[in-house]
Amino acid sequence: MSPTILLTADTIAARVHELGREISERHRGESVVLVAVLKGSFVFAADLARAIDDSVTVEVEFMSVRSYGDSTETSGVVQITSDLTRSIEGKRVILVEDIVDTGLTMAYLLENLRTRGPASLELASLLHKPARARTPVHIDYLGFTIDDVFVVGYGLDHAQRLRNLPYLGVLEES
Ligand code: IMP
Ligand code: MG
Repeated sequence: MSPTILLTADTIAARVHELGREISERHRGESVVLVAVLKGSFVFAADLARAIDDSVTVEVEFMSVRSYGDSTETSGVVQITSDLTRSIEGKRVILVEDIVDTGLTMAYLLENLRTRGPASLELASLLHKPARARTPVHIDYLGFTIDDVFVVGYGLDHAQRLRNLPYLGVLEES
């Protein structure tokens, strides 16, 4: 059972380059810290970081989060399983996420990071599924809005697999 292609590698690459250009324009001459939310955003974050031009000074940090609840529906109770290794106080932070689904994970994480006193806090998300939103989350840099389908590839998994697909695909139930 192989996934049906939703967004090709070329389509994703073109959009990620546009997002990199937007970040470069908005932060020209400044320093930003990209905080990639593991594991899902590792591919997007790697490509996005390289799409930001050298007029911006870029640092990269990682966090891991786990959401309690069953495997398909997040509960909104989020546990940070691996935290930042450096302070973000006074820094311009861009949180990098794979997908905003119910929005509960990002709502929690944005609030958590805000308490640490960053100079600014923005969100870059590759995907957004507005049909499933349970709490509003402002996405400053959005790749694609998608329908309510379960997507895999380009970092996103199903039971930890398929993250390595170079495209975004939809898993058909069978
Ligand atoms: P939420 O916005 O709190 O509901 O959760 C978002 C998280 O759920 C994402 O970071 C993904 O890890 C996971 N997720 C949501 N939808 C999908 C999907 O279609 N494919 C793979 N993971 C997903
Ligand atoms: Mg995730």
